[in-house]
Amino acid sequence: MKTATEAPGQAPLPRSAAVIGVGTMGLGVAECFALAGINVRLTDASYDLSCLAFERLRQRIRGHIDAGLLDESAVEALKRVKPADGIPAAVADVDLIFEAVPERVEIKGDVLAECDATAPPDAIIASNTSSLPIDELAAFLRRKDRFLGMHWFNPPEWIPGVEVIPSSRTDPAVIARTRAFLAAIGKRPATVGSGPGFVANRIQFALFREAVACVEAGLATPQEVDEVVRSCFGFRLPFYGPFQIADMAGLDVYENIFEVLERGLGAGWEAPRKLRDVVAEGRHGSKTLAGFYDYSVDERDNLLLERDQRYAALHELLIGLTPAREPRSEAADERD
Ligand SMILES: NC(=O)c1ccc[n+]([C@@H]2O[C@H](COP(=O)([O-])OP(=O)(O)OC[C@H]3O[C@@H](n4cnc5c(N)ncnc54)[C@H](O)[C@@H]3O)[C@@H](O)[C@H]2O)c1
Repeated sequence: MKTATEAPGQAPLPRSAAVIGVGTMGLGVAECFALAGINVRLTDASYDLSCLAFERLRQRIRGHIDAGLLDESAVEALKRVKPADGIPAAVADVDLIFEAVPERVEIKGDVLAECDATAPPDAIIASNTSSLPIDELAAFLRRKDRFLGMHWFNPPEWIPGVEVIPSSRTDPAVIARTRAFLAAIGKRPATVGSGPGFVANRIQFALFREAVACVEAGLATPQEVDEVVRSCFGFRLPFYGPFQIADMAGLDVYENIFEVLERGLGAGWEAPRKLRDVVAEGRHGSKTLAGFYDYSVDERDNLLLERDQRYAALHELLIGLTPAREPRSEAADERD
């Protein structure tokens, strides 16, 4: 684990963690922690389930080694992991508690309250909730200042992004420590507010809602929608977010497209006020050296060159990864 990001005078970054609830997410996060050199305690709804989780982790790491995703030395990581008999035993001497029990407020509430009552005073307590308001969960803890959301994505070993979601009472030092910890284990934290779906799921579900609407409107099959998303605009997303993409496309162009969408699809499709304001200021994106970002001429030219290099590299990578046989589409089934 890298330690370079530890700030002088601040509490050291976590070196041990308890994972509470070792299902789909807890297991992957436990693997990630262990591979990064963190000592991990696993606990699930019973000691038998905790031991079973340890065995599943062993098989998971073996599977990743056999698939060529990890090298043989990864088995060493298992020496850092132990099942624990219950929450007090799991959290007794750890620096970070990661809660990943089912998305039910009453289950999370009981688990978080027990963690709060039995963890060391400096330990950070984080919930992997995908949707519950963080203040609602914080209400179950007495020490609310050390609690926040830490929202990972499945499969957690490979997806780099993690949303860090403070409550209204989280200590800023805890946010900074959490971000530094995630960066040190190779993740890419983003701090976001606790609105419905946070940021990632709000955007992801808006995309899904419209994908379904396109199918319902008879515009395309699910297979065609998937093809459009992944090979048209989705092709850009490993490198750029919506604001940089919009800047490179032209914000005036976006505003014009919104007019067409609003005419055709109605209320809710008008150009957002923020977009109209930026365009009205003459900030039309990278072509005017200003949009949602600012650019010098060199920065703009480098951005566009780097973009082309990245897209060309991704194109090559995808050709190399494309399976000999694509998943069957309905259209292909009909032809057969
Ligand atoms: N599955 C996803 O793609 C995903 C992605 C991001 C966030 N999340 C969130 O992560 C959390 C866990 O989701 P999951 O998909 O891993 O669920 P899961 O059902 O696979 O795992 C939950 C685990 O918690 C255990 N558990 C239940 N009650 C417990 C208790 N009282 N004490 C200890 N362990 C207990 C269960 O036995 C199970 O092993 C949820 O809040 C979910 O919203 C899930």
